[in-house]
Amino acid sequence: MAIYLDHAATTSLLPEVLEGYIVALQSVGNASSIHSHGQAAKRMLEEARERVAAALGCDPVEVIFTSGGTEAVNTAVKGVFWARRAAGARILLPGGEHHATADAAAWLAASQGARVEELPVDAEGRLAPAVLEAALAEGGTALVSAVWANSEVGTVQKVAELAAVALRAGVPIHADAVAAFGQVPVDFRASGLSALSVAGHKVGAPVGTGALVLARGTAAEPLVHGGGQQRGIRSGTQDVAGAVAFGIAATLAAERLDAHASALVALRDRLIAGVLATVPGARLRGPAPGPDRLPGNAHFTFDGCDGDSLLLLLDFAGISVSTGAACQAGVPEVSTVLLAMGVPEVEARGALRFSLGAGTTADDVDALLRVLPGVVERAQRAGHSDRVPALG
Ligand SMILES: Cc1ncc(COP(=O)(O)O)c(C=O)c1O
Repeated sequence: MAIYLDHAATTSLLPEVLEGYIVALQSVGNASSIHSHGQAAKRMLEEARERVAAALGCDPVEVIFTSGGTEAVNTAVKGVFWARRAAGARILLPGGEHHATADAAAWLAASQGARVEELPVDAEGRLAPAVLEAALAEGGTALVSAVWANSEVGTVQKVAELAAVALRAGVPIHADAVAAFGQVPVDFRASGLSALSVAGHKVGAPVGTGALVLARGTAAEPLVHGGGQQRGIRSGTQDVAGAVAFGIAATLAAERLDAHASALVALRDRLIAGVLATVPGARLRGPAPGPDRLPGNAHFTFDGCDGDSLLLLLDFAGISVSTGAACQAGVPEVSTVLLAMGVPEVEARGALRFSLGAGTTADDVDALLRVLPGVVERAQRAGHSDRVPALG
């Protein structure tokens, strides 16, 4: 049986989610219709919204269901920028943001008059609140957006401190919590954020589900116009079954957080210790094992070889992993996260991320540890190249 160590890319549907999803898919009714079928659909939808709100520590009215993380992030970054055009053109981001954020901001810069400033991060990918504070002192900032936890190297940001700094400056702040949700506590109200994005498929719900949490007092222009559903921020007939599935997954993510996280931490630390002990040239990237690192994340660079070669050799051995930048539509690129952290390009090319999740076992980790030294040795012999070492 193939081993799946790429939970940061996507997760399998949880059985409880699948069960609720199927029931919801079988009922008919547009949640905006006033007849009884419509009202039944609306009840299911609003119950799902309440579940997501409870799991994320916000009010149900603040939950805007989206098609996933990318749409939520785009709605926050573009929507808040447009609503605050008068306040200034600057958008502040830490270096190495996920492409959903970085590319939305780049598009605003290219076509909408935004001025995007990437703030320096430390060697572990963290933005210091003092760096944000100094940047905000200049004024003219429309919004700040920062990832809550980095999906590549697993760094958990000091979100509440960043939010406090932004709010002191009167600037809304959005956090991309796609990788954080389900692994570390995410409490919107306590964080002080203005907006937050999550995706269902990272916590056992179907791809195509997710939410933007938008604080009541935070204005955002919509990306899509139409029937005015969801505060007019996200028009369109609502996906009741998707919302139900995401609602169940969100409840489970919150309820199981502590047990899930401690199980993952034990496996992660076994994996990290094993790799560092047995693979010459392996360097752990991101924070040391501890609370600043996502429980399910182990990310390394391996000297003298290409991450893509390692990925393919491991795939051949029946183990699915990622180079880290999994959302790049299959196009290999050097990680912008590692470059922002100051990792030299030659080292960044050897990146490989192992991400653990529900269903990962110690046997899976041990199976990886058995094959990895040989795989790395083989890839090192091939060296850095566009050529993948011959399989078999
Ligand atoms: C940190 C982060 N943000 C945003 C996204 C995009 O989310 P989605 O795949 O739901 O569009 C991802 C996907 O991997 C991610 O890891």
